Amino acid sequence: SWTMAAFKAQAIEKIRAQVGTGKVICGLSGGVDSSVAAVLIHEAIGDQLTCIFVDTGLMRAGEADEVVTLFRDHYNIPLVHVDAADLFLGKLAGVSDPEVKRKTIGATFIEIFDAEAKKIGGAGFLAQGTLYPDVIESVSFTGGPSVTIKSHHNVGGLPERMNLKLVEPLRELFKDEVRRLGVELGLPPAFIGRHPFPGPGLAIRIPGEITPEKLDILRKADTVYLEEIRNAGLYDAIWQAFAVLLPVRTVGVMGDGRSYDYACALRAVTSVDGMTADYYPFSHEFLGRVATRIINEVRGINRVTYDITSKPPGTIEWE
Ligand code: XMP
Repeated sequence: SWTMAAFKAQAIEKIRAQVGTGKVICGLSGGVDSSVAAVLIHEAIGDQLTCIFVDTGLMRAGEADEVVTLFRDHYNIPLVHVDAADLFLGKLAGVSDPEVKRKTIGATFIEIFDAEAKKIGGAGFLAQGTLYPDVIESVSFTGGPSVTIKSHHNVGGLPERMNLKLVEPLRELFKDEVRRLGVELGLPPAFIGRHPFPGPGLAIRIPGEITPEKLDILRKADTVYLEEIRNAGLYDAIWQAFAVLLPVRTVGVMGDGRSYDYACALRAVTSVDGMTADYYPFSHEFLGRVATRIINEVRGINRVTYDITSKPPGTIEWE
């Protein structure tokens, strides 16, 4: 019968066959997928692998440190930490269209990976944690003619011409299988249980133009929301939860005065594979507490809404 141990053994053979004595770089996003891919590839080819963590400036609060610490201290995998926040934010200045955001981000990643590949003495391969749903959703929509919903999921964001060949050992797996493979590879349970986080990061959680100020506001709201979810013991019951900063200002009252600040939407869904999803049925009491905290603690937000759209017809992310 098909077991994760067997899958792992086979995947290791395939990686060795594809890569030979070549060098591989693997972009770590902080998510489960790229981490599992990295640990698997490291088992297959050891120090022929170098991991690259690109700080895009589009991460959640604390994300960068958690990843770097896990990989440096927990595994003996060489890790390069590239601080590219200014580069990404510069390229994204003035960009509002979601697909242009993804393509801009994808192209910037490749620029960085190409440069890092040269630095470590000519890596020929780029490893990614692409999953099966990423492959299908980027290609077509439920069997119809080929319509790209989002060019997302690592796959589509990449430019056609790239000097590196792709290594994608998770291409046939669904998320729950990747998590089981992670267990098989000995990744810490808390890490394996992390919610998915998209490659383009907070850029697709700020509809419209991205600015450092908006990123800062969103990070604060997101931190409060996730803290309340963890305190309520709900983190593991939810597939993904996050805040979205809307490009809308609304009027409110603050003390004796009038406020005119951003509105924020909270999203939380249950799902098995990300292909379909239902909104999470929080209690009104919980939602009220989160809203009050965000409005009191996060300057720049004076209104909070909860998104009750299912997928389909909505998508999980807003862009
Ligand atoms: P949607 O919004 O398409 O999201 O319902 C399904 C899952 O994919 C994640 N997602 C992305 N992941 N690059 C990624 O690596 C992307 O461009 C991207 N867009 C969406 C989303 O967070 C959810 O888990």
